[in-house]
Amino acid sequence: MLGNFEVEQCSFSKLRQFHERVLSFSDRFVKIHCKHCVSESIGALIVIGLFLSFLLAMVCTYFHVFPIYQPAVRTYTVHESDDLVAKCNVFYGKWIPDESYPLYNASQCPFAERGFDCVVNGRRDRGYQKWRWQPKNCEIPRFNVQEILGKLHGKRIVFVGDSLSRTQWESMICLLMQGVQDKRNVYEINGNKITKRIRFLGVYFSSYNLRIDFYRSVFLVQPGSAPRHAPKRVKSTVKLDKLDDMSKEWIDSDFLIFNSGHWWTPTKLFDM
Ligand SMILES: *[C@@H]1O[C@H](CO)[C@@H](O)[C@H](O)[C@H]1NC(C)=O
Repeated sequence: MLGNFEVEQCSFSKLRQFHERVLSFSDRFVKIHCKHCVSESIGALIVIGLFLSFLLAMVCTYFHVFPIYQPAVRTYTVHESDDLVAKCNVFYGKWIPDESYPLYNASQCPFAERGFDCVVNGRRDRGYQKWRWQPKNCEIPRFNVQEILGKLHGKRIVFVGDSLSRTQWESMICLLMQGVQDKRNVYEINGNKITKRIRFLGVYFSSYNLRIDFYRSVFLVQPGSAPRHAPKRVKSTVKLDKLDDMSKEWIDSDFLIFNSGHWWTPTKLFDM
């Protein structure tokens, strides 16, 4: 498994190539078939259509008579009874330029990884740091570090995921460190340094009794070895119905932030 950000980005272009291949294949397939007799195809289509309708009717009847079927994954809908909540969907909006940003200087934050510090690595423009999220129908209050540190007193925040989660975890810590006078009061509990492969990092803000943790778990579920009689090319499995074993450590968290998305791609998941 690769935690390297550049490698992770590569998979997107591979995914696109894969889609293009699938599309061009289906294109060819349709062309070959169109050369054959049209009326015969229509007849066959009608027969197939009738058969599928029959099958569908049977299935519907079955589940109507025996309503035992339950979806494997249950989903819960949060009903937005509060009018304010319904009007303010913070996920619906856009990024807008804001000259008052950035909120911290990455070069001065001990928890910002050097590999992700664009300025230190030679980037000259600064515009990329000056963006803020603007929801469509409401305002997010400006980040007020003292107010947030006060609200997070005694809490435990847990980030779970890949290197993207790790950098979000770093940003959160750097944002909050802006409000801490003595930076020595913020430290990794095991004295560990940030690395790509590390499974756990926990940063403690001692003056606020606040923990901000990161767990590396790219699929969130349990990885496992190949089943006994699996084909040779199968090297490992993911158990979709079992959370990562580390999940027991997340139980008492106050905020749990997951990210896994771009590991579920052909190159990342299925090639493995
Ligand atoms: C950020 O910190 C570095 C190192 O202290 C400093 O050289 C740089 O000028 C700072 N950048 C800004 C925009 O303040």
